[in-house]
Amino acid sequence: MLRFDHVTKQFGGFKAVDDVSFTVRPGIITAVIGPNGAGKSTLVNMAAGSYRVSTGRILIDDVELQALPKHKIAHAGLSRTYQNIRLFDGMSVMKNLEVALVPPSIGSLVSDTFGFGGRREAEERRERCFEVLKTLGLAPFAERQAGSLAYGQQKLVELARAIVPKPRVLLLDEPAAGLNHGETEQLKQHILALRQPDLAMVLIEHDMKLIMSISDTIIVMNRGQLLAEGSPADIRANIEVQEAYLGQPGAIRDIEAAARGRRNRVRLREGEGLTWHQP
Ligand SMILES: Nc1ncnc2c1ncn2[C@@H]1O[C@H](COP(=O)(O)OP(=O)(O)O)[C@@H](O)[C@H]1O
Ligand SMILES: [Mg+2]
Repeated sequence: MLRFDHVTKQFGGFKAVDDVSFTVRPGIITAVIGPNGAGKSTLVNMAAGSYRVSTGRILIDDVELQALPKHKIAHAGLSRTYQNIRLFDGMSVMKNLEVALVPPSIGSLVSDTFGFGGRREAEERRERCFEVLKTLGLAPFAERQAGSLAYGQQKLVELARAIVPKPRVLLLDEPAAGLNHGETEQLKQHILALRQPDLAMVLIEHDMKLIMSISDTIIVMNRGQLLAEGSPADIRANIEVQEAYLGQPGAIRDIEAAARGRRNRVRLREGEGLTWHQP
């Protein structure tokens, strides 16, 4: 499992993540929600080794991730997708996936994708990649240039690349952003199919319908702080209370608004079954 232990990230004098602690368990989908700028992506960037933690610890089981370089973090079983697509546009979909399987000790990721490790290993890597492409309905695009695919397909290739190394922790940063209704529904089915006992999944999303329908537990972030943690039913009840109270629709806006005034936060604390993390 993945554990954030009193994690803070400061950019200059600004705390993007402020003393956040929570645990992500295997076998379930943990959603992280909150308004733009809440610190969600920063959590992922720290876990994946893109950002250094200012204070606190991030652990997979008992392995402290911040002490490791990026590729060792991947080796420890952590995979992530990016909020903004990061594919090698000029390479085939297949090659984009193979990159994720080449051990960094071998050297330059891209150039070694082609030749490293002998024919049998290369064949096994391609088989694994193709298997994942098939699962996600991307097999027909295996030899297409990644940059030539439609946006929704590129988002799926990102997901495929993250799955290929068989991670134990999978962090998905807004996988549904920019997708249409049908694509979002497809993505939902893919994510549900990924849920398995030995995989801890984190889903950062703004699509509340998607969040509510597939998450097992939800963490609410606001202004760098962990505001609440609970089941979808708990969070939904809370959002409904907020909507009734504030008289305006829009779950995320309400969560944000709720965090602005102490009165609202006190009201939030009354939510049944919720664990509120007060600063
Ligand atoms: N590299 C960075 N340098 C300075 N500020 C950053 C950096 N990355 C993120 N931030 C700031 O940290 C805050 C949280 O950002 P982010 O984690 O991307 O939010 P979210 O993903 O919840 O929308 C924002 O105010 C953002 O501007
Ligand atoms: Mg983000």
